[in-house]
Amino acid sequence: MKYVIGIDLGTSAVKILLINQAGEVCLEVSKAYPLIQPQFGYSEQDPNEWVAKTEEGLRELVQAFSGNPEDIEGISFSGQMHGLVLLDKNNQVLRNAILWNDTRTTEQCQQIYEAIGKERLLKVAKNPALEGFTLPKILWVKQNEPEIFAEAHVFMMPKDYLRYRMTGQIHTEYSDAAGTLLLNIEEKEWSKELCEKLGLPFDMCPSLVDSDYFVGTITSDFAKTTGLAESVKVFAGGADNACGAIGAGILTEGNTLCSIGTSGVVLSHEERNDQDYQGKVHYFNHGKSNAFYSMGVTLAAGYSLSWFKETFAEAEDFEQLLNGIENVSIGANGLLFTPYLVGERTPHADSKIRGSFIGMDASHKRLDFVRAVLEGITFSLHESIEIFRENGKVIENIISIGGGAKNEVWLQMQADIFNATIIKLSSEQGPAMGAAMLAAYGCNWYTTLEDCANDYIKPSKTYYPIAENVEKYQNLFILYKKVYEQTRALNEELHTFRNITN
Ligand code: XUL
Repeated sequence: MKYVIGIDLGTSAVKILLINQAGEVCLEVSKAYPLIQPQFGYSEQDPNEWVAKTEEGLRELVQAFSGNPEDIEGISFSGQMHGLVLLDKNNQVLRNAILWNDTRTTEQCQQIYEAIGKERLLKVAKNPALEGFTLPKILWVKQNEPEIFAEAHVFMMPKDYLRYRMTGQIHTEYSDAAGTLLLNIEEKEWSKELCEKLGLPFDMCPSLVDSDYFVGTITSDFAKTTGLAESVKVFAGGADNACGAIGAGILTEGNTLCSIGTSGVVLSHEERNDQDYQGKVHYFNHGKSNAFYSMGVTLAAGYSLSWFKETFAEAEDFEQLLNGIENVSIGANGLLFTPYLVGERTPHADSKIRGSFIGMDASHKRLDFVRAVLEGITFSLHESIEIFRENGKVIENIISIGGGAKNEVWLQMQADIFNATIIKLSSEQGPAMGAAMLAAYGCNWYTTLEDCANDYIKPSKTYYPIAENVEKYQNLFILYKKVYEQTRALNEELHTFRNITN
């Protein structure tokens, strides 16, 4: 029996998955690492910590593996998107990585629009200038840390750095390059025009490959540290959302994914490179060659629920926290929650907006708040679905993965709010499975990723919308959407107040 490893370098932890040729999960190891938040709105991590934790996890996995490490044939990656890693000419890390959920770059986003023009940016990069993307972070370093920028030789995304440390090879691949805002998405090449207009050296951009590209084998040092065989083949991998899609079989037109992790996304497969959503949803290259996906993002999806748990029920686990929410009626007895804890992306690209509970009543119990949080996260994702539908996309079946697929009530809530059939998978491993599938495909176990998905991914349960619930949620959604407009100005003032008093 042969095996492959999928490594998902996430925001809170690295998850390492060993699967066999039948797609069965044989071993799983996870190692957590912290966020570094030196200032309000900042979110960083130390790239060396990613490498140390991955080494530790792989060592543990190889030790627990009862077979011959030589039979582990391939490795590939999934990674948190958009994070900026800067290396000097000796390939040393120059500063902490600035992550996707860091919002310090509002000014740089404005500068990008001024230098490029909104329309031209949408034509080339297919996405608007958002604080989370990599390009504004590069500009931020250039302007605020010029001595570091002067030393910068190449930039890359988080999982690309990890792969470099394992193989000594520097690349990025299209699905992560697409999230930088520097890639010409249709042409699949770095945009010279954007680099020139923004005063960035073009040779800072790493070379581009496909997600299934065979990068090489691991270094003998990495083999020694982890116990892996030196012959293990390393494949480029993909952005976590692309890998989440691969791992859920979203590989052909008409397939949609709802993935609730720290952030939450609604993602739909796109065959064409020129579908035009006017920048209202993201449009990125897929991990499948020459395919694309469109995606709406809720920044604090699972994060809203974990924030609530940490703040109000620290000693409990999620199961205890959610126990009994089926007994709370739809609409949480008149309580609405907007999940804008760290700002928002879709449909409101707004880094200053913050969350609200609206309608608090003396009769409300903690469970009303918990239900309101789940409904608020799901409403926010529904705003992305609404954009897709308004643009002619048919969304009838949605595969749900991540935290949102772990609770029956939440799955039914998704069916009722999205007014679509929700499919839960039997063994759902998220982006790490997509990464492992890229390795399986790279090792030629399958001739297409679709064949691999047909073998590995099985639905387990289906949730259908209940007409009566759909109608109640449609009425409530109208109110939910008003909260953003009605709290926007107030939140801007609070943002200023916070900056003055902090
Ligand atoms: C997508 C995004 C997040 C991160 C999470 O644009 O910013 O989903 O990929 O890792």
